[in-house]
Amino acid sequence: MLTSLARAAELIRDGGLVAFPTETVYGLGANALDAAAVAKIFALKGRPSTSPLIVHVASIDMARRYVAEWPREAEELARRYWPGPLTLVLPKSPEIPDIVTAGLPTLGIRVPAHPIALQLIEQSGVPIAAPSANRFTHLSPTTADHVREEFGDAVEILDGGPTQVGIESTVVSLVGGKLTLLRPGMISLGEIEKATSPEGPHPAPGMHERHYSPRTRLLLVDGPKQLPDRNGAYVWCNEAGLSSRSIRMPSDPTGYAARLYSVLHQLDDEHWPWIAVESPPDKPEWAAILDRLRRARS
Ligand code: TXA
Ligand code: MG
Repeated sequence: MLTSLARAAELIRDGGLVAFPTETVYGLGANALDAAAVAKIFALKGRPSTSPLIVHVASIDMARRYVAEWPREAEELARRYWPGPLTLVLPKSPEIPDIVTAGLPTLGIRVPAHPIALQLIEQSGVPIAAPSANRFTHLSPTTADHVREEFGDAVEILDGGPTQVGIESTVVSLVGGKLTLLRPGMISLGEIEKATSPEGPHPAPGMHERHYSPRTRLLLVDGPKQLPDRNGAYVWCNEAGLSSRSIRMPSDPTGYAARLYSVLHQLDDEHWPWIAVESPPDKPEWAAILDRLRRARS
């Protein structure tokens, strides 16, 4: 069910859950300082307790309250990209309950670039822990409808229309003076490295391989020749093919990312035997999209 900002802020303060829009995807939020409230997020999503949550704050000053260190790189990146789709991982302050970070000594934190998200944080007066508002391993939601399809009446939803960026934030760790890319996003590692002092990239730690998946079998193909048959949905950019359903995607990565989850949600609802996606170019500006498609692949 849809809710108002005032009611949503009250729910957060009272230890409840609220789904809200950010510029990337919709989040399932709770007061990050309230361990019992955060436990409700894990329960509703069916998320393993080993998977840490991102905390959303309204300003750089607010972020600094919840981390134990604020290195120069954090200041540079936050000034340049916040509010925006960049999550910084830093040593956490003791005020953040362990359940939020899955017991890790570090915290992922960001200032989202969405007026409703910022107003929700400001009006509730607390940092908001929020993963994407979908069940574990399912596709992330980019509209209020996607959230409703996933959770029905189990959660109140703030509707901010379709999200702008369309895929999840870039996650970088600044722990131990090293810059490590943990999850690619539309802000690329190259841009981030340019915005900070030169320090080479480090290998990303293991992430769940299959993630962000539609229910329908999803194939990544090089072109229409690799379609299994004609009776499925083909999502393409360069080369059209013969299939029952065909969706042409924007040819620029920004436009593509903004549409991707919405198209996959829609095709999933149409119950095709398969969804085939033409592989986007193997270029840095497509890296985050390729990452999500590889994880979505069956
Ligand atoms: O765009 C986004 O980031 C969205 C919106 C709602 O802000 N949130 C999101 O949350 O995608 P979630 O829970 O679906 O993904 C969180 C990612 C996970 O891959 C997790 O491993 C990483 O952030 N993460 C969070 N805290 C971390 C930490 N302390 N150390 C390492 N990785 C962390
Ligand atoms: Mg997620």
